Amino acid sequence: MKLGNLDLKNPFVQAPMAGVTDTAFRTIARRFHDGLLFTEMVSAEALCRGNWRTLKYVEIPKEHRPIGIQLVGHDPGRIAQAAVLAEKIGLDFIDINAGCPQLKVVGPGAGGALLKKPEKLATIVKQVKSSISIPVSVKIRLGYKKDESLAISQMLQDAGAEFITVHGRTVEQKYFEKSDWHAIKRVVENLDIPVLANGDVKNENDAIELLENTGAEGVMIGRATRGRPDLPGTAYSLLKDGEYQRMPLETLASTIIDHAALEQELFGIQAGIRRMRKHVHWYFRAAGIKCLAKDIYHIKTLEELTAIVEGHILR
Ligand SMILES: Cc1cc2nc3c(=O)[nH]c(=O)nc-3n(C[C@H](O)[C@H](O)[C@H](O)COP(=O)(O)O)c2cc1C
Repeated sequence: MKLGNLDLKNPFVQAPMAGVTDTAFRTIARRFHDGLLFTEMVSAEALCRGNWRTLKYVEIPKEHRPIGIQLVGHDPGRIAQAAVLAEKIGLDFIDINAGCPQLKVVGPGAGGALLKKPEKLATIVKQVKSSISIPVSVKIRLGYKKDESLAISQMLQDAGAEFITVHGRTVEQKYFEKSDWHAIKRVVENLDIPVLANGDVKNENDAIELLENTGAEGVMIGRATRGRPDLPGTAYSLLKDGEYQRMPLETLASTIIDHAALEQELFGIQAGIRRMRKHVHWYFRAAGIKCLAKDIYHIKTLEELTAIVEGHILR
């Protein structure tokens, strides 16, 4: 897969997910695959102001590369300024969020709201490009209210985006309806720059189907990587070798415990464990391990987490 100056063997990409794909998650993901990673969306404004919490999101250990930062904002100048900082930090490319449907993002005109003003989005791309030397990409949905993905993506190509990611829903659809893989295919067929296809991959087979059905350069996987940080790696094994192995239960248990310790390192003893509870739920669900939600959501310490994890996985 070639994306600008990035050359990767694995076409399966970890999606940016706010509150999920933090530095701890990415460190865990890196144990299982060497595919492309994204930060969570990072506010360009907060990055420019040196906000403590935001800087935590962009902590980039060397082994996380290749990795892109996803910037969210509406002011072309501020986004360009944030991109300059990100290039200095050592990110491999800058992605611009033009798909987030959350009210607090869309309200001020950022995220998905930029799809209502594709000229402004193109201006952002041009301004960012002229400020940095690493590639610039944009993650879009099909449109705000209706599918305008072809016109929008052509504008982004003309503005100089090195690649784009298309999530096959409109902003108004949020997560309702199915991701429209045909619409993604139409964009792939009409663009000269590479496209990553995104939406509704639930497992390894879906990932390959989306890649092959759309002819996209790569496939971005979001929700299905929750509790399955290895999925971009296992999907690639299936594509390459026709088979894949899920991680053994001992590895699953130690992965969850390590993930929790990393969250604590990053966010502190208590907040780290609180952030980890949802991950425990996702890891168990993905592995088909039954556990009462109340048991997970009452975990307060790493010792309690270890006892629950070992008790349920290694019995
Ligand atoms: C909890 C959560 C957080 C997300 N955060 C972001 C984000 O920060 N930036 C972004 O572009 N998309 C974000 N997304 C959207 C995903 O990257 C992806 O486009 C979407 O979930 C569809 O892909 P999927 O069906 O593989 O999950 C988020 C999705 C979820 C569920």
